[in-house]
Amino acid sequence: MAALETIECLQREALADLDSVGTSAELEDWQHKYLGRSGRLTLFMRGIGALGAEERPAAGRRANELRRLLEVRYDEREERLNQSELASALEREALDVTLPGRRPNVGRLHPLTQTRRRITSIFAEMGFQVYNSREVESDLFNFELLNIPRHHPARDMWDTFYLSDSVVLRTHTSPGQIHVMRERCPEPIRVILPGKCYRYEQVSVRHDFQFQQVEGLAVGRGITLADLKGVLQAFTKRLYGEGREMRLRGGYFPFTEPSVEVDLDCAICEGDGCRVCKQSGWVEIAGAGMVHPAVLRNGGYDPAQYSGFAFGMAVERQAMLLHAIDDIRHFYANDLRFLRQFHGSG
Ligand code: PHE
Repeated sequence: MAALETIECLQREALADLDSVGTSAELEDWQHKYLGRSGRLTLFMRGIGALGAEERPAAGRRANELRRLLEVRYDEREERLNQSELASALEREALDVTLPGRRPNVGRLHPLTQTRRRITSIFAEMGFQVYNSREVESDLFNFELLNIPRHHPARDMWDTFYLSDSVVLRTHTSPGQIHVMRERCPEPIRVILPGKCYRYEQVSVRHDFQFQQVEGLAVGRGITLADLKGVLQAFTKRLYGEGREMRLRGGYFPFTEPSVEVDLDCAICEGDGCRVCKQSGWVEIAGAGMVHPAVLRNGGYDPAQYSGFAFGMAVERQAMLLHAIDDIRHFYANDLRFLRQFHGSG
C-alpha cells in the first residue's frame, strides 16, 4: 500500500506547510506547490493510472479526498489571511479621533478700529455722515484757514511734522472742516471725519506721535452751544453708559468761539486718581466749540446767517477709558497678548 502511504505523507506535509503560511503570497506558493498544474498532489494523481489494479481505486478515492481537503483548507486560510490583513491595514491607517483639533487662527479687528467703528456708528445714528479727508495737508488748511496765522503763538499747541515749508502731516482732523464746507456750501452740514493725525511729540503714557481722531462738524441756521452739548451728552451716554459723568470746561482753540474741553469722570480709577487722569478724577475726551466766524467765512458760509459747532476727539483716549488701558503705547506695540484680549468684531 505504498501509494496510500505516499498520500498520508503528502497530507501531513501539506498541512504542516500550510500552518507556517503567513501572507497571501506564501499561500499562493503553497497552492502552487501542492495543487498547481505541476503541484505534488496533481502529479501524484496523474500517476494513479499507472498503479496496479488493486491499489488504484483506494488511491484514487484518497487522492480526491485529499484534494478537497486541501482546497477547503486553502479557502479557510485565505479567508483568515484576508481578515487579518484587513485588520492590520485598518490599524495602520486608523484616524485617532481623540486628538484635539487645531484651532484655526481667527483674525480680529484692532481695538482702535473697533472703537472707531463704535464712535462712527453712534454718530451715524444721530444723522452724521462720514467724510474722509487727507492725511498730508497744506499749512493753509491745517492752520491758516482755521484761524491760526503763521507765527501766531497758538501754533505751539500743535507740534508739527513739516514735510516742506508749506506741507505738513495733519496735526488734527480739523482741516477737513474747511474741505467739507467748501464742498457743501451753502447746504447744511452734519459730518464726522475720522482719521490719523501726527504730532512731533514726546511719546508718553497719554501721547503718541501718531493717533486717530474723529472730528465732528455741524453747520446750519440757528445752531447753538446747547446743540453741541446735547450731541456730546447723547454720545457719551451711548459709548460709556448711563453711569458716567460728562462736563464741559471753558477752553481755547483758535477755530472755535466759545471753545470748550469735554471731560469724562475717569473710568480707569473711578475718581480715585491715576496716571491717566493725572490724579484729577477727570479725563479730557474731546475739544469742541462753536465754529469761529472767520472759519465759517473761509468755508464759504456767511456767519451772519449760519452758525455751527465742531468737536474733535482722540480714538485712543476713548479706547483707553472703555477698556481701562493705562498706557497709549500698547495700541501700536503689536503685542499679541494685548491684542487677543479684544474679541469684538466691531
Ligand atoms: N482740533 C482740536 C485738537 O486737535 C480739537 C478740536 C476740534 C477743538 C474741533 C475744537 C473743535 O486739539
